[in-house]
Amino acid sequence: MRWLEGGPVEATRTLVWLHAFPLSAEMWQPQLDAAPEGWRVVAPDLAGFGGTVDHDGRPEIDDFARDVDELVLYLGLRRFVLGGLSMGGYAAFAYLRLHAERVMGVILADTKSGADTPVAREGRQKMLDVVSTSGVAAIADEMVPKLLGTTTQRDDQGVVLHVRNLIEANGAEGVSRGIQRLRDRPDSTPDLARIVVPALVIVGEEDGITPVTEARAIAGAIRESTLAVLPRAGHLANLERPEPFNTAVGKWLLEI
Ligand code: MLT
Repeated sequence: MRWLEGGPVEATRTLVWLHAFPLSAEMWQPQLDAAPEGWRVVAPDLAGFGGTVDHDGRPEIDDFARDVDELVLYLGLRRFVLGGLSMGGYAAFAYLRLHAERVMGVILADTKSGADTPVAREGRQKMLDVVSTSGVAAIADEMVPKLLGTTTQRDDQGVVLHVRNLIEANGAEGVSRGIQRLRDRPDSTPDLARIVVPALVIVGEEDGITPVTEARAIAGAIRESTLAVLPRAGHLANLERPEPFNTAVGKWLLEI
């Protein structure tokens, strides 16, 4: 497993960020570079992405949760804040099912709690066909316009190119197994009421994959939640609008 670090390793509190599909821990660079005061920030590559090898056998979202748990035990973290964006949010739900007792707060960014609908599952099958016939570059062609908000696509070609490069750095097999994990993940909606730690729900106002309505539903179902809607950001809100994203996180961390 490969992971990236930000902030001082000796910090007493740790924030673990789980990345979106089909990216890698590198999407968290703006958060690693601006670690909140007193916090260590850890961002692993999930199985099959970046520098982390995948498992054998049938891929499931729980693989991510088990790997994260091995990492936190290895790092000696007793309790930590867990944050995930989109697929990283699905992985965070899986982790909470496995080891909620280790989580002192949760950040759910641009994600949703429901399982794939039948139509979404069909879309996953088409995507699996695209990876196997045309490779990861074709997935980047398809995904980049969906991952980024209209403002970023119009005004920030640097971010557009960066996201494309992060996607294209992944291998076809990892991406393909990632799609299967997304497709087969369970419905986490019933778990929301079981979250008893503070939760920050963040969403880009221009997010077309997991829109503001999804974020509102998640925040509404969690007992102690704060919702932050970021203007001029799409699905990859942390990369598109790092400053307001980091401000929302930093402010919330001071309160928990
Ligand atoms: C992601 O950003 O992780 C994916 O778009 C999530 C999904 O496709 O369900």
